[in-house]
Amino acid sequence: MDSILVEKSPPLSGEVRISGAKNAALPIIAASLLCDSPVTLQNIPNLADISAMERLLCSMGMETRYERDEGTLEIDPSRVRWLEAPYDLVRKMRASFFVLGPLVGKYREAKVSMPGGCAIGARPVNIHLKALEDLNIELEVEHGYVVADGSAMRGGRVHLEFPSVGATENAICAAARAPGESVIENAAREPEVTDLADFLVAAGAKIEGQGTSTIQIQGVDNLSVDSYSIIPDRIEAGTYLAAAALTGGTVQATHCREKDLTAFLADLRNTGCEVNVEPDGGLDKITVSRPGPIQPVSEIVTLPYPGFPTDLQAQMMALLCLAEGTSIVKETIFENRFMHVSELSRMGADIRVEGNSAIIRGVKSLSGSPVMASDLRASAALLIAGLVAEGKTEVLRVYHLDRGYEKIEQKFLGLGAKVERVRAAVPSK
Ligand code: UD1
Repeated sequence: MDSILVEKSPPLSGEVRISGAKNAALPIIAASLLCDSPVTLQNIPNLADISAMERLLCSMGMETRYERDEGTLEIDPSRVRWLEAPYDLVRKMRASFFVLGPLVGKYREAKVSMPGGCAIGARPVNIHLKALEDLNIELEVEHGYVVADGSAMRGGRVHLEFPSVGATENAICAAARAPGESVIENAAREPEVTDLADFLVAAGAKIEGQGTSTIQIQGVDNLSVDSYSIIPDRIEAGTYLAAAALTGGTVQATHCREKDLTAFLADLRNTGCEVNVEPDGGLDKITVSRPGPIQPVSEIVTLPYPGFPTDLQAQMMALLCLAEGTSIVKETIFENRFMHVSELSRMGADIRVEGNSAIIRGVKSLSGSPVMASDLRASAALLIAGLVAEGKTEVLRVYHLDRGYEKIEQKFLGLGAKVERVRAAVPSK
């Protein structure tokens, strides 16, 4: 398995272009199967997870053409032969479960493997299933698969017990083609959910209220759109801006959107950073610099959007490791999302975990060491910690990073970081 070798680097400086959002692209690729004619998606990041979703669509008989360098993915959804998402594909990527709503929405039946657990918690799908049942879809769990019968599907009131991103997305997709009106209450408000709804609206769906907690949907019979461009990746932008803050440099993230990063940027300012935003043709250029020492923050709490994103919690924690005082980070979205703590501690950080809170006492310096990535965002946190650690840090299990960060070494190298991918030796025959 590849690893990334990180050396203590000068303060990062320069410009980094932000890619399309993985977490918007994945449900939109899945939702394209609701359409009746070919669709070209643009601003698709070149990531392992995108290839996995493409493979899943192909396994159902759809035709796709993925131009990785151009960031376009053409999908012809007219020929779906197997309404099934097999265990082998869903197990590797939980987002494969996003095909359930689109499949049953369009074909009135589906068979999708239940996803397993993952490093950041059990991650059940009970809220997804309840939402589909609220649309009068019959569901059975058989041999590890959810088998859906949507022959009596109709619009209805869907109340989510928690604003789950994936459950909201599955419900939107099924309701988009369910006869009658649906109302999703306590819906997730994340920008990626809004982007999915906007994609469907561009295809002729009747959806209102996306971006708020109540989404109204009037089912339609046909959906079709020639092309659609995915929103920028707020988590990728936040990761490079956190790295700028940690190294005390000045980085401009281009092709991103400030409005998606409000809570994160407010906390970055609280750590002593200056944040400047320049509008740029409908998007923004966000520049972060840190003129003085890193200030501790009393408490950062991860919350559903518009709160502080759980997907930036680990990167923020890496920054707070070198603050001039004690900070608290509370994780309320996932039950087991502090796996990076033990690795940061091995690099000399002083972090104590109490329940779902991490108490971070700032230290003067970190020291490089081999570290093991446990999930995508934890890996990013370890990489940016390596930029300020004395000596060398080897981030193992880099495949996690490749799932979510496009051209990660090139982008960091472009900012002056000392990073190098170490290719795993191919065993000789
Ligand atoms: C999505 C994002 C992920 C992000 C998360 C929260 C994608 C591909 N992934 O994941 O990067 O960290 O939103 O912003 O978009 N839950 C249940 N039952 C369910 C569904 C969820 O208990 O049926 C729990 C989960 O275990 C978790 C919490 O709800 O503790 C949030 O999960 P959810 O919002 O569904 O996240 P995902 O859609 O899986």
